[in-house]
Amino acid sequence: MDKTEVVSRRQLFSECVKLLEAAGKDSPDFDTLCIFQDMLGDKNPLFLPDEAVPREAENRIRTLAKARAEGEPLQYLLGKWEFYGYPFCVGEGVLIPRPETELLVENVLGICRDNGISAPVIADLCSGTGCIAVTLKKELPSAEVSAYEVSDKAFGYLERNAALNNADIRLVKCDVTDEKAAGNAGSFDIIVSNPPYLTAEEMASLQTEVAHEPALALDGGSDGLDIIRDITKIWKKHLKKGGWLCYEFGDAQHEQVGTILAGNGFDNITFCRDFSGIVRTVAAQKTEE
Ligand SMILES: C[S@@+](CC[C@H](N)C(=O)[O-])C[C@H]1O[C@@H](n2cnc3c(N)ncnc32)[C@H](O)[C@@H]1O
Repeated sequence: MDKTEVVSRRQLFSECVKLLEAAGKDSPDFDTLCIFQDMLGDKNPLFLPDEAVPREAENRIRTLAKARAEGEPLQYLLGKWEFYGYPFCVGEGVLIPRPETELLVENVLGICRDNGISAPVIADLCSGTGCIAVTLKKELPSAEVSAYEVSDKAFGYLERNAALNNADIRLVKCDVTDEKAAGNAGSFDIIVSNPPYLTAEEMASLQTEVAHEPALALDGGSDGLDIIRDITKIWKKHLKKGGWLCYEFGDAQHEQVGTILAGNGFDNITFCRDFSGIVRTVAAQKTEE
């Protein structure tokens, strides 16, 4: 194309969709729409299909579409993603919040509702962007929420997202599998975690987009359950009697997770399926000191 030629929204949209189709992306129209919305600040950019795209926006859109075609996650390109209706900054070095994790949040809210706990003391372990901790604080304003994360990069996002959402939560940078670091933690009504839980086999065959996300956020050791084993053993001491431990985990891991919880003395072990029918979360109660 001639450098002085102006490109219309319709032309550029169609070019980007074709680029993503050729790269085998699952949702070329959706991805292109998100990029256009972000760059043009227009909810429905194709409402004015013949409008000329300003040169700077055109260049940026082309750059983003190319990066998307090369496998960069859409969420990283946009720099922000929604979880439970709240905005979260995302980028290289932090896990993108997943829709199935909203189920884990629902589990915690359900426990509070069913047990009449209006001001729970909550710990979110392996907090990443802080999507769980921040959302719980927004949904339960009287809750006292602490978020624990080991990665420097993820911790930076955690700080930004707590500020972005005006969520007054305690942020702790530590390795949750280090008994000494956990030793200073208080005592909680609910401990929730979406820890790394991919198996070694799954880590070896990651989809291109997921491979852009940090291994530290994904790798759960050979059977994927290393962190769940450690957290259960170490953090049960930090649960009040009657308190709850809630996890998200991977497909087909529920039986082993149930065994770990039962082996650590937990009762009332209750599983939930996600919207794909996969058993995805568990809540278990500490009934004995
Ligand atoms: C699966 S991601 C979940 C992030 C976030 N909770 C969510 O649901 O989107 C797991 C997170 O645990 C962190 N992590 C991994 N090992 C950890 C450890 N030993 N101590 C604390 N955080 C850890 C990773 O850096 C990553 O941010």
